[in-house]
Amino acid sequence: SQASSSLQQVSESPDCSEDGYADVDWDNLGFGLVPIDYMYIMKCTEDDDKFEQGKVSRYRNIELSPASGVLNYGQGLLEGIKAYRKEDGRILLFRPDQNALRMKVGAERMCMPCPSVDQFVDAVKQTVLANRRWVPPSGKGSLYIRPLLIGSGAILGLAPSPEYTFFVYASPVANYFKEGLAPLNLYVEEEFFRSSRGGTGSVKTISNYAPVMKALGRAKSRGFSDVLYLDSVNKKYLEEASACNIFIVKGNVISTPPTNGTILAGVTRRSIVEIARDLGYQVEERSIAVDELSDADEVFCTGTAVGVAPVGSVTYQDRRIEFRTGGGCVCSGLYSNLVGIQRGLIEDKKGWTIEI
Ligand code: COI
Repeated sequence: SQASSSLQQVSESPDCSEDGYADVDWDNLGFGLVPIDYMYIMKCTEDDDKFEQGKVSRYRNIELSPASGVLNYGQGLLEGIKAYRKEDGRILLFRPDQNALRMKVGAERMCMPCPSVDQFVDAVKQTVLANRRWVPPSGKGSLYIRPLLIGSGAILGLAPSPEYTFFVYASPVANYFKEGLAPLNLYVEEEFFRSSRGGTGSVKTISNYAPVMKALGRAKSRGFSDVLYLDSVNKKYLEEASACNIFIVKGNVISTPPTNGTILAGVTRRSIVEIARDLGYQVEERSIAVDELSDADEVFCTGTAVGVAPVGSVTYQDRRIEFRTGGGCVCSGLYSNLVGIQRGLIEDKKGWTIEI
């Protein structure tokens, strides 16, 4: 296969323990970087907008011009995908084509050439296969895969970079929040905004993330799990949290803000919308005023890194609003369905998973 032929280019082969797994304390994984064996690299120069044949090579630091477009002007996109180990040991990828398509939309916005969907998905598969000993045992977490597209060429004036590099690296992970699977406590931020009309909030630019760190750090220092952002025009409608989309539940109706330009088009968000409709819920993608929180039964967050996370409380203007959480909740049913498909425990009737 293409994956194994690329691997032959790699000189050092990694050590494997007897059970074929890397030496990791699988019961104590969080969401920190665990350096793996291999990464994938593919380049594109300005002569044409096509990426050359990429290759798997040892995971290492990269060399970059101080004048590169990504370092000076933030010309870069990231993605997040998870690979899960089935109970029989085989590995499933969840909807990597959706991340490839989202990167295409983001690349167009950021004036970058982009790998084709086939190139992207093949690179992800090769990276996972090369690092298969880092995919956690079934039920212990997942391999979080991070594709990156950056303007790697040197440029001084403000313009698109003359060269682009596409990387894929990965790390074994478990729960994103230190709370684990316990309900999150969110804080509604009123000073800083994540995204503005006409900006880049709907695509996964690297430059969307550093600006949220200030509000996030402030909220964490006050004991909150994450920040919930409002829209920057009316300062009234829910947008999303720092690293995930938001949903509210009232009776049989599940609502989430629409992807109208400022909301990240989350793959988990879209999957949950579809699963919820299949389960008979009415799903509305609409503007949600922050005041509606007072009336909501449940609130939950979704994202690739985050998964589906219940929210126990939201604090808005010094008022703490609490929500139902726990076993019988809508959120918990949606979570079990999604994770069941991702881990191969529930039949995937939608063709969302790819076995590699
Ligand atoms: C993801 O959910 O994959 C993300 O990229 C969010 C990131 C801030 C961890």
